Amino acid sequence: MSSEALTGDQMPRMTTDSPGPTSTEWVDRLSRTECPAITARRARRERETGAGQDPIVWDEARGANVRDADGNVYVDMTAGFAVAGLGHRPPQVVDAARDQLDTLIHAMGDVYPSKIKIELCDRLADVAPGDLQQSILGQSGSDAVTAALKTAAVHTGKPGFLSFWGAYHGLAYGALSASAYREEFREPFLDQLNNHARHVPYPDPLRPPFGLVRGDATPQEIRDACLEHIDQLLSGHATGSEGIGAIIVEPIQGRGGKVVPPEGFLQGLRDVCDRHDLVLIFDEIYTGFGRTGDLFACQNEDVVPDVLCTGKSMGGGAPMSAAIGRPEIMESWGTSEGEAIHTQTFLGNPLCCAMAKAAVDTIVDEDWPSRVRERGDALADKLESLAARWPDRIVDVRGRGMMWGLEVVESGAGVEPDGSLVRRLMDFCRQSGYLFLPSGTHGNVVGLTPPFVATEQQIDGFLDVFERGLEHLTERG
Ligand SMILES: Cc1ncc(COP(=O)(O)O)c(C=O)c1O
Repeated sequence: MSSEALTGDQMPRMTTDSPGPTSTEWVDRLSRTECPAITARRARRERETGAGQDPIVWDEARGANVRDADGNVYVDMTAGFAVAGLGHRPPQVVDAARDQLDTLIHAMGDVYPSKIKIELCDRLADVAPGDLQQSILGQSGSDAVTAALKTAAVHTGKPGFLSFWGAYHGLAYGALSASAYREEFREPFLDQLNNHARHVPYPDPLRPPFGLVRGDATPQEIRDACLEHIDQLLSGHATGSEGIGAIIVEPIQGRGGKVVPPEGFLQGLRDVCDRHDLVLIFDEIYTGFGRTGDLFACQNEDVVPDVLCTGKSMGGGAPMSAAIGRPEIMESWGTSEGEAIHTQTFLGNPLCCAMAKAAVDTIVDEDWPSRVRERGDALADKLESLAARWPDRIVDVRGRGMMWGLEVVESGAGVEPDGSLVRRLMDFCRQSGYLFLPSGTHGNVVGLTPPFVATEQQIDGFLDVFERGLEHLTERG
């Protein structure tokens, strides 16, 4: 196994099958001590049924590269669930973590905060759009969503909220009630989920709701139909609508398949919320901090929510998230007397704050959003050409910046989703050293969210292998 340090800009180098024997040993070991729902037993079942490949076990990562336990070097087209925007182990973040380790790893979040937490909150207020100024920090995206939903309830006194079909807001209970991504994620827990979430159609231009037909209905008509539906619902034409105090929405649906709503949708939601006195929450956990070519995706339409949730890229690899709100909304919490009514043991953990502060500083000060926009435009052209060569397989290319989805369908079956081909393509690419993940409610979308720092050569290498995969797998039918 090679012990040469990764540089981050390397092309794949495969020395064993993927997974190799060492990864398999580690996964077998995991199967004994981790809950079977998480990784290993599921993988085993897949191995036995031939439904997919076992996981590889990660050993090292840098920039756009990952090395597995067998020494194979990959290009990570997922940026580790879109966390490694600046790449894995960005030097600025590593240095900040090292410095922080020398002074303070843990403080007492709400009781005795650290200086670095205060500096991070200042910086977030600095860079957040409009008058978003006050943060509630968390460790996960689910934490930020929970904080945002609680804030809306405290502000409006109403427990209900609207979220969208296909939305993914996380799997902790508050967030899971808002998520309408896959029914199997919710189904075992339905009795425990709060019943204040109401899911409404997202204006998906490929699969429009309300019986609208793709191609016949314009994106604007699809947008307006969705907005009109919400407006009607809030105008008291549906039972329970009087208890709705918030709308939570992803400006581009991430895990739901990189679905980009028609232009004007976010502004339409802003108008609806203003008309009905609702709190508007943008979940930018996936899209935020440069991923779409703006610092936040909502800036593409110049729309400011009341609360904005961030996570993923924000931490530079550290588990860190924030719900950032307008002061008059956040003031509704009142001043805590005695014990804070919203906090966590690790709220504002100094090590994570130091890493997040370095990541945010780097993304903003080095103007990564415009670099992402430029690189994203080049990637979009390449994806469009690829789709033009495979019109019966790739029916949609959508996204922005470095967040793209290729919608793959069964040949000759209209827009019938083909999750199984995506899975086989994923396996094929992994054998050649490229990692990507399926996305979309049927796993039918090739999700591409490479690190911003991925080189052109790495991206071209992926596209070549992916196309070879299409040739190989579709020839075999
Ligand atoms: C838009 C969005 N919101 C929330 C979450 C949940 O974040 P976490 O998994 O950190 O709880 C995710 C995770 O993918 C996400 O994409």
